[in-house]
Amino acid sequence: MSKAQNIYDDPDFFDGYKKLRANRYSANNLEEKPALFSLSPDLHGKAVLDLGCGYGENCAEFQALGAVAVLGVDISEKMLAVATAKHPDIEFICADMSDLSFLSRKFDVVFSSLALHYIEDFGAFAKDVYGLLNDGGHFIFSQEHPLTTAPLGGASWTRDSEGQVLHYNLSDYARGGKRSTRWIVDGVEKYHRTFSEIVNALVDAGFTIEKMLEPVPTQETIERDKSWEKDLHKPNFLLIKAMKR
Ligand SMILES: C[S@@+](CC[C@H](N)C(=O)[O-])C[C@H]1O[C@@H](n2cnc3c(N)ncnc32)[C@H](O)[C@@H]1O
Repeated sequence: MSKAQNIYDDPDFFDGYKKLRANRYSANNLEEKPALFSLSPDLHGKAVLDLGCGYGENCAEFQALGAVAVLGVDISEKMLAVATAKHPDIEFICADMSDLSFLSRKFDVVFSSLALHYIEDFGAFAKDVYGLLNDGGHFIFSQEHPLTTAPLGGASWTRDSEGQVLHYNLSDYARGGKRSTRWIVDGVEKYHRTFSEIVNALVDAGFTIEKMLEPVPTQETIERDKSWEKDLHKPNFLLIKAMKR
């Protein structure tokens, strides 16, 4: 397996990403985070692992929701420098989550927010996560929607002469594998998987799927800014809650 890309340590990417996340009306804040936390079980007394934790914002929220032990893992030293400065009481490890054999303890809940599209072998990853969970534990993740990761040339929409979105340009859906696209900088590597590939990898690892979400903007968000309406053609995110029985 090839070595995972660590694009968040690229200085230009890191600065651009910081600006995106500073926007309170980002898709993360309006669509992804509310959906992710809506899937969370009661975290009181729970041991929680956050894979691809970034700035550690979710880790802090898990702690505030009652988790007794929270561990954040991320490949990027720059992201973890922010995380450790903001949340000195939380444990963070800098590591590539494509191989989780460095972890020997078990967890009640494993979260991963918007990082799994960077993982090449999702089947092996799902098996690793299954092995890290206590019986009855949950794996809850969000990722870029498979309709977003599909086009080889990146996501695009067809618009009318007034610039109104007519439809999303879906292509290459059944061509799984690496995508090298421009997002903040050129050459950002992600992996496209179909719905069936994602679902079957979880089932093959032993998981029971409890819920899937494809959040869309609220009516209030669309009324404030019409440009959000295009997410009704294609959701930005896919979220899955799976359980180890
Ligand atoms: C879009 S950010 C999301 C950060 C955080 N989960 C959140 O939602 O705020 C994706 C994160 O995944 C991390 N990441 C990407 N590939 C990784 C890998 N192979 N192992 C560990 N972390 C990875 C990146 O460094 C980055 O911090």
